[in-house]
Amino acid sequence: MTTAPTAACARTAPAIHPSILNCDIAHLADELARIEGADGVHVDVMDNHFVPNLSWGLPVVEAVVAHTPLPVDAHLMIEDPDRWGPAYAEAGCRIVTAHSEALVAPVRLARELHRLGAGAGLALRPSTPLEAVEDVLGEFDLLLIMTVEPGFGGQAFIESMLPKIERARRLVGRRGLELRIQVDGGVSAGTIERAAQAGAEVFVAGSAVYGAQDALAAIEELRALARAHAH
Ligand code: DX5
Ligand code: ZN
Repeated sequence: MTTAPTAACARTAPAIHPSILNCDIAHLADELARIEGADGVHVDVMDNHFVPNLSWGLPVVEAVVAHTPLPVDAHLMIEDPDRWGPAYAEAGCRIVTAHSEALVAPVRLARELHRLGAGAGLALRPSTPLEAVEDVLGEFDLLLIMTVEPGFGGQAFIESMLPKIERARRLVGRRGLELRIQVDGGVSAGTIERAAQAGAEVFVAGSAVYGAQDALAAIEELRALARAHAH
């Protein structure tokens, strides 16, 4: 006899992945220690071409992997992720997410990431429709729906992305996909409920976690809100 799930149709527990983009990078190891109760670490790689900002590349990501026990999720906001993506899997990232707008061969990259032992993620800018990637989603483990224009932390959550999250969730259910939906940008105690209700399961939060006095308490609060409103 099976027990009915408590939350309506939640397949998995919500996961909180703090983004270290705006942490104190001079004290990276300490900043990683502040979020040890999280479910993963989200590392934003920006090349100043795909987005108008420059963050860091492989050496820093390798240092993050070496200094946290948490799974690292690399969000590549770079041109030519077909070429650079596999190196992030080799660096030990648990999931490597590339933007669909920059990818030439998403299926080839997903299969290569899997061969290297990493999960494959596909990211959509706010203006990129779900339909653009629908046919290849079966190859991926994670769909990242951006809820801000990628490039910077601390921006406001774009509410009009909620229907896209809902549509993605329905598509996942209809096709029986093993795909988790991640949201990134402006996720806070004020917005996470609606994202969870719409169907997101993995929540990236930068300023809401690192801007808090007590990062662990912020993570717990976000997780509790997401759980209470799980789709
Ligand atoms: C923006 C990055 C985000 C950013 C989130 O392009 O992808 O991961 O760090 O920061 P907040 O949570 O402050 O919007
Ligand atoms: Zn990100």
